[in-house]
Amino acid sequence: MAATGSAVGLGNIWKFPYIAGENGGGAFVLVYLVCILMIGIPIMIAEVLLGRRAQRNPINTMRHLAAQADASSYWQLIGWMGVLAGLFIMMFYSVVAGWALDYVVASAQGTFSGGDKNSVGAYFTELTQSTNLQIAWHSTFTILTVAVVAAGVTKGLGNAVRFMMPVLFVLLLVLLGYSYQQGNFMAGFNFLFSFDFSKLSGQSVLTAMGHAFFTLSLGMGAIMAYGSYMPKDASIAKTVCTVAFLDTLIALVAGMAIFPLVFANGIEPSAGPGLMFVSLPIAFGNMSGGDIFGTLFFVLVGVAAWSSAISLIEPGVAWLTETFNINRLAATGSMGLVAWLGGLGCIYSSDFFNFLDKLTANFMLPIGGLLIAIFTAWVMKRSHLNKELGDISGLSFNLWYASTRVFAPLGVLTIFVYEVYSLFA
Ligand code: PHE
Repeated sequence: MAATGSAVGLGNIWKFPYIAGENGGGAFVLVYLVCILMIGIPIMIAEVLLGRRAQRNPINTMRHLAAQADASSYWQLIGWMGVLAGLFIMMFYSVVAGWALDYVVASAQGTFSGGDKNSVGAYFTELTQSTNLQIAWHSTFTILTVAVVAAGVTKGLGNAVRFMMPVLFVLLLVLLGYSYQQGNFMAGFNFLFSFDFSKLSGQSVLTAMGHAFFTLSLGMGAIMAYGSYMPKDASIAKTVCTVAFLDTLIALVAGMAIFPLVFANGIEPSAGPGLMFVSLPIAFGNMSGGDIFGTLFFVLVGVAAWSSAISLIEPGVAWLTETFNINRLAATGSMGLVAWLGGLGCIYSSDFFNFLDKLTANFMLPIGGLLIAIFTAWVMKRSHLNKELGDISGLSFNLWYASTRVFAPLGVLTIFVYEVYSLFA
């Protein structure tokens, strides 16, 4: 439940549709799906496995497992990079989550009733130009996240997710139904699922792979930290497959709800980070009961973002508390403060915002994932791996082992090389 809460977030509802739009749709979506299946799932199994085996925070997990395998203590850099990546992501994540919180109030006040592309577009532009408003919402979101992490993660989180996620999913289905009736459904469908590879640049392939890591919360220790809380008798492989399936499903449903509205209302698919914030309110503003419905929807987007944000700072907090013997509040407060300051940077400079987004999703997470795969499948003892994945058949184990040892690392490296090549070609 907690892992699903971490995976499902702004990445699915806000980021996936807008980057699919910027990268031409279908072919990009296909590459993303292939990356989830062939790179994301095997590496996610590896990351959970490391955490559960060591039962420590990500930095100490890597240190401990490396020592156990007589390997270099430099492997703990995976943990360090993860803590840093979590902070960097949190910096822009909480700004976007802040937009969602603002939309809760705006929807409740009926701001979007009868709205169209121009009025909603103007609202979004005004919000993203108002530093004060954004600072207020960004601060609110950071405080909400810090409060929960300070209180100890595992407690209420499972219940919140169990209750909220299904409601969010139902709301997305209702939106999908609205898009089917009122939107340009076929145009949306064709955009997302017809593959035109001529639109696919090296940069798009890298973005698709980076997003597979981002959306699964993979490569930065969040999943490792949650793995360390996982009971020994729970099935890692089944859990990971379920999380990846739900995460992908939610992204695709969000995309299918958004694009028919985009095309029916003359919004550019490549409109960028405002795509969801401009298209969905048009639907809410023109359906009956839309004010209540929209309010609820943005509350749930906020909750989804919040359950992801918790996992962004948890690795760092766990490390601080376990290493320095300081209390959770102090540890969480300092992580929160650094993230909050970085968030101010993102509000004042959209270049900084984009830089952090690209740096983490396209580089830090895939590199973290690559190292996790190599460590697990080349450094650790096969018998130890077998023990953690004991519930799956020999065939499935071998399939996972081959993917983690060879295919997934090769996939990540190939995409990096292809990116470098296309930069110079
Ligand atoms: N997976 C989250 C989302 O899709 C973002 C995230 C990335 C959370 C990395 C934790 C770690 O919104």
